[in-house]
Amino acid sequence: MDYKSQMMVRPARNVSGSVSLPGDKSISHRYVMLAAIADGPSRLENYSTGADCASTLACLGSLGVNWERKAGAGNVIEVQGSGLSLSAPSEPLDCGNSGSTIRMLSGIVAGQKFTSEMVGDESLARRPMERVITPLKAMGADITSQNGRPPLRITGGNLKGIDYRMPVASAQVKTCLLFAGLLAEGETRIGEPLRTRDHGEVALRAFGAQLERKGNEVRIRGGQRLHGVEALVPGDLSSAAFFLCAAALFPGSKLSVTNLLMNPTRARLLDILVQMGLRVSITQLEEIHGELAGTLQIEGGRLKGATIAGSDTAALIDEIPVLAAIAPYTEQGIEVRDAKELRVKESDRIASIAINLRAMGAQVEEREDGLKIPGGQLLHGAELESFGDHRIAMAFSIAALRAEGETWILGSECAAISYPEFFSTLQGLVER
Ligand code: S3P
Repeated sequence: MDYKSQMMVRPARNVSGSVSLPGDKSISHRYVMLAAIADGPSRLENYSTGADCASTLACLGSLGVNWERKAGAGNVIEVQGSGLSLSAPSEPLDCGNSGSTIRMLSGIVAGQKFTSEMVGDESLARRPMERVITPLKAMGADITSQNGRPPLRITGGNLKGIDYRMPVASAQVKTCLLFAGLLAEGETRIGEPLRTRDHGEVALRAFGAQLERKGNEVRIRGGQRLHGVEALVPGDLSSAAFFLCAAALFPGSKLSVTNLLMNPTRARLLDILVQMGLRVSITQLEEIHGELAGTLQIEGGRLKGATIAGSDTAALIDEIPVLAAIAPYTEQGIEVRDAKELRVKESDRIASIAINLRAMGAQVEEREDGLKIPGGQLLHGAELESFGDHRIAMAFSIAALRAEGETWILGSECAAISYPEFFSTLQGLVER
């Protein structure tokens, strides 16, 4: 791969301090997409600083949505809602590296009476899109793709509600179909095989839509108008995961994270860390537009092992890379099962994790749908690939903190996909 930069990470003695994170990526995408099709203005504070959420903003701009990034602190984005109808883009919508942008926005453009072409980078061009193409076509959109992968060419309008059971547990797909359902005639019913993150449902309600949930099924009626909101996006828990796992590596570490997302469908990591022996406490819990946020304190102690399978795997899908990266330092190791989806993320994350752990001298068993990583291992620093995958670059920067010697992360610039400030914030938290 052609990498632009590399970062050297040295071993640490401890991790401590207090940190506040840029806004959650999943919520930022959804808020800004809904703000675009709402009536009236919205103001989103602590919007994600990652390149993925900037891709969503750029696409919305191409669809005629007026938005502005306010100067000064707070990462504020103001959006002038266009109502449910957007304008035909005069250029392809560039989704960059962002699976969330292409999948969720395809639900909105499928409801528009014009043709949009959605493109992305090399990694996005490899990612499966049949999961949105099939149901959107069933709703009436006309879609062409490259064998189920981007670019997507979507001619929308005149959608009809459907009753659809999703074969893959994916919150991106669920949200795509909820957005399309809002723009369709009649009711859309979506069944998910496992409960996935519910930010789409929570955000739709925050913007004034009504939906119903019964067990693993959610229903939305088309044609509902949305109103703008003023919202503070909670700090990204999947980005915080890197620091929480860094703290987990050092008995005696103490870390506090303010305004952290605590949505129960996203916070399984906290349960796992407690199960592994860390002390976690939560204070100042607040609900903002249906999303929970609070202050988290974590203290390192013992680090037992864990098995992640079934619905835990779906709930922890973005945190598995960093959990796997610290697994060799745990007492009993970590086993990950039912995680085939990891093979179709920004990189094949099962392979990326196994290659990098081995490069650091670890034993690891790679399976088709998971990994078994024994505990009690000593790792050494190495030259590691990011594979252009932000979560792999950040996960192995954390593994490097307990390795012997220096570690180089090649292509470390990709951390900016979700968390541009990652390396400088990490630098401020580690003691050497
Ligand atoms: C996301 C859902 C997950 C996750 C991604 C963000 C979302 O993807 O990996 O980073 O915001 O809904 P899938 O829906 O493909 O599981």
